Amino acid sequence: MLTLGVIADLHIGPRALHEGKLRKLSDQAGALTAGFAERMRLQIQPELIVNLGDVVQDEGPEEDLARYQEGLALLGGAGGELLNVAGNHDLINLDGATLRRSWSLSRDGPLHRALDRGGIHFVVLYTHERTGRDVRLGDDQLAWLEADLSRNELPAVVLMHHPAADQDLRGNRWFEGRSHVCLVEERGRLRDILRADGRTFLVLNGHAHWNHLAVIDGIPYVTLQSLVENIQEDAPGVAAATHGVVRIDDRWTAIEVAGAQPARYQFERR
Ligand SMILES: [Fe+2]
Ligand SMILES: [Fe+2]
Repeated sequence: MLTLGVIADLHIGPRALHEGKLRKLSDQAGALTAGFAERMRLQIQPELIVNLGDVVQDEGPEEDLARYQEGLALLGGAGGELLNVAGNHDLINLDGATLRRSWSLSRDGPLHRALDRGGIHFVVLYTHERTGRDVRLGDDQLAWLEADLSRNELPAVVLMHHPAADQDLRGNRWFEGRSHVCLVEERGRLRDILRADGRTFLVLNGHAHWNHLAVIDGIPYVTLQSLVENIQEDAPGVAAATHGVVRIDDRWTAIEVAGAQPARYQFERR
């Protein structure tokens, strides 16, 4: 059994309006992250804490660096090993070398990588968003992924910031009519690689700020809602406080989506 505590889109920073309405309760992000860390440490005790990206609500280089490090320090209080994914907001004012250093990695190197924990191969992808244009993995990363999976014999979990499922975005506050800045451009190629390899049994991502599940080629693609999403239409606002607990054993993957809008998914491993 391996347990993951998962959190997405913390957006630590000032409150953010979107189309004139209060949508992200970013000013509560620190307290909500601390609450997540406490639940993990005291109740769940997961081996791994997965940060799916967008730790900061971008404001400026100095503010973002301080908030990024604050976010990781709060997540460090959860007690498990921290596995970080880069989000688009993390890279508006910070660069890849800064993120890697914050992750206790050497500054030179890519933001995608893979590691084995508890008999599971974890692949962390880096989806690069060109603001307002598109979201890409790029040919080099896709080739790396294919080679990495071909060397691997363990069951695999893929972690990434942007979704790789084809989502119907109607009703999504942030991305209705804007799939080009929500979904990964090469998602079809990525899914083909995962299907052909056959070992991936779960893909986890954030960014879309809602809970979404798609099962494609027998692989669940799970989008976790933002921690700070306002579940009300506007002010005063109530934070979703969303986080996930993923429990993996030899046969089952059970996902508890906790917070103000809870859900539960379970899949049999093939
Ligand atoms: Fe986000
Ligand atoms: Fe994002």
